[in-house]
Amino acid sequence: MITRIMSFCEESKQLAKDFIRMGELVAFHTETVYGLGADAFQDDAVLKIFERKGRPADNPLIVHIHGGYDLSRLIDSEPVYAAALREAFLPGPLTMVYPSTGKVSQYVSCGLNTLAVRMPSSETAQKFLKAVDVPIAAPSANLSKHVSPVTAKHVYDDFEGKIPLILDGGACSGGIESTVLDCTGDIPKILREGLITREMIVSVVGCCEVYAMQEGEKPKSPGMAYQHYAPHCKTAYFTEKELRAAKELYNKEKEAEGNPCFLIKTELQDLVDGEKLLLGSTDVEMASRLYSLLRSGEKKYSLLIGVEPEERGGAMTGVLNRMRRAFGSEG
Ligand code: TXA
Ligand code: MG
Repeated sequence: MITRIMSFCEESKQLAKDFIRMGELVAFHTETVYGLGADAFQDDAVLKIFERKGRPADNPLIVHIHGGYDLSRLIDSEPVYAAALREAFLPGPLTMVYPSTGKVSQYVSCGLNTLAVRMPSSETAQKFLKAVDVPIAAPSANLSKHVSPVTAKHVYDDFEGKIPLILDGGACSGGIESTVLDCTGDIPKILREGLITREMIVSVVGCCEVYAMQEGEKPKSPGMAYQHYAPHCKTAYFTEKELRAAKELYNKEKEAEGNPCFLIKTELQDLVDGEKLLLGSTDVEMASRLYSLLRSGEKKYSLLIGVEPEERGGAMTGVLNRMRRAFGSEG
């Protein structure tokens, strides 16, 4: 199969419509990371996502809809706070989890009685979703466990010859995956941190919990239980306070003829000598750079040494979650 990378135009629009109707997969730009899409109504198409990605069969998918899509075609009702949050943040990097009504393929939710719905703000995503006019089930367009893709080339690197079309919308500005919010209870509950932060949700509806998995419990959002975002090179992870140990490891790797590199906040760059990739300064900047640095770093270096920034709150919660998981210091 030939994999074409095309920006959104009349020709790619027609191709995308044809491929989706035929049950094929189409990767597309969103404002967070690229998605690997299939018609959410077609069982075989949805199953293809799991197969081509190597995704565990119990990790459910998000369905993506365009701005004009009638939500009542997918869900029966929603709490008052959910409507307020949709009004405030959609289209945008917020995924909302509702009680399922069984309208899309059963393989989308993997046996959970809920359905995750997202309305991306990316122009390419909106045009694509409007053109096909069916809900599109889509995980991030990376092979399972690898770093999520934030350019069309990243998708190509993982899926060359395995999918027919990548809709190129340039680099993803957000850089980490959407916030996943459970909207099935009395109070909204964050299942995965992202760029729509707890603080932002509280400012609209006055409250927001953060889900913490209890020991022995079945995870509410199965994806959070898997190791993720791992670069293909070796990794190590230190806090700002452990810089000495980080430098020792760097030197050891050098002595062993390796090719190490630090991944570090821009302000700390003068504290370490040698190769470094700069994460940026603000939470939003770090989010937008993290995955492309991991993707370029894994190609160039034998060992990436992550240094955890001390900043907390806001989008940092999501950035730290992704960093810890990429560097293997958390499930
Ligand atoms: O920004 C994003 O959300 C990107 C773009 C492509 O939209 N998508 C994405 O999909 O990150 P994926 O499959 O890589 O991550 C989806 C997460 C997983 O952790 C999954 O377990 C969770 O959402 N999820 C999906 N459906 C769910 C449901 N019904 N209940 C709870 N969690 C769900
Ligand atoms: Mg993913």
